[in-house]
Amino acid sequence: MRYTIAAAALLGLCAQAHAATATRAGFGQLADGTKVEAVTLTNSAGMSAKIMTLGATLQSLVVPDKAGHKDDVVLGYDTAQEYLSRPDYFGASVGRYANRIAKGKFALDGKTYTLVTNDGPNHLHGGTKGFDKRMWKIDSVSSGPDAKVVLSYVSADGEEGYPGELKVTATYALNDQNELRLEYRATTSKPTVLNLTNHSYFNLSGNDARDVMGNMVTLHAARFTPVNATLIPTGERKAVSGTVFDFQTAHRVGDRIRDARDPQIRFGRGYDHNFIVDGNAGTLRPAARVEEPVSGRVLEMSVTAPGIQFYTGNFLDGTYFGKGSRAYRQGDAICLEPGVFPDSPNHADFPTSRLNPGQSYVNTIVYKFSTK
Ligand code: GLA
Repeated sequence: MRYTIAAAALLGLCAQAHAATATRAGFGQLADGTKVEAVTLTNSAGMSAKIMTLGATLQSLVVPDKAGHKDDVVLGYDTAQEYLSRPDYFGASVGRYANRIAKGKFALDGKTYTLVTNDGPNHLHGGTKGFDKRMWKIDSVSSGPDAKVVLSYVSADGEEGYPGELKVTATYALNDQNELRLEYRATTSKPTVLNLTNHSYFNLSGNDARDVMGNMVTLHAARFTPVNATLIPTGERKAVSGTVFDFQTAHRVGDRIRDARDPQIRFGRGYDHNFIVDGNAGTLRPAARVEEPVSGRVLEMSVTAPGIQFYTGNFLDGTYFGKGSRAYRQGDAICLEPGVFPDSPNHADFPTSRLNPGQSYVNTIVYKFSTK
């Protein structure tokens, strides 16, 4: 009996030694004096994720390479204020509606809503002050098999022109299997539309040693949604087979990105398109795999969302100076943004972005890292 208790205690200790931990600390302040905090999740396999309260942003993500060297694999800034002064959604939680809404207009139950147009003629990523520029609250921080932080934000009825008070949470959890699980949840007081996602810019070479053109990408998507010149879906669901959008087997990003015979490449300045993830939306299933051949780092993403925006940092123009004073240039990162399709409020046959009172919105994303 005594032996069993001792063994159990020992097992408990071992389990503890391998547990992932969460620590909370200040992350400076904004120009207006607002204090920003960050929670760092660290596992026993060499990974750590830092999430800050401004924008519930994944500020850094440290992942070992095949030789065990740890490097940061996401773009961003060293200070919180830079995320506001020079926003490009680095690592941010984007809402209320990630991606575009055509002409900033949509109708719901016969009423037309007008949103700001902040991307040419269209509305992008929630407007002037979307969720990426809001201060989120830390609801809880915990260590254990999963190191976890839950952040929340309450968006007032009418904020940025969207109806309904929206209560949102973002939960980041890191385990010892090098899986970072991110879950967005929301409820609303009135019928509304939403599309919450994370906008991390991945560069698996670590600290942006190389651009992403040599990355091998697989997208589990037999179809994508072609766009017009302002990146609004035409409504078509097009088979990727025989196009430069066929990533059903692994392809180097750079191999076909300059093939401007395809007008879609011209419109996107490269890849900036929503792919329709194979299988059933609502079920966690593989969506994407990215392999960086030199470091050997591999990212596999599973999602519950119906679509995933594949964007190759086409708007990074060398005028963004990120962590460690690195200049970010076109093609320096891959964004994989799981959500409903762009402009879904204006496409009755797209998966719905509508949320009613009493319903729970959930968008789950799992980022799993390994080496090859
Ligand atoms: C998304 C869009 C891009 C661009 C970036 C942010 O990925 O699809 O066109 O706006 O966000 O710069």
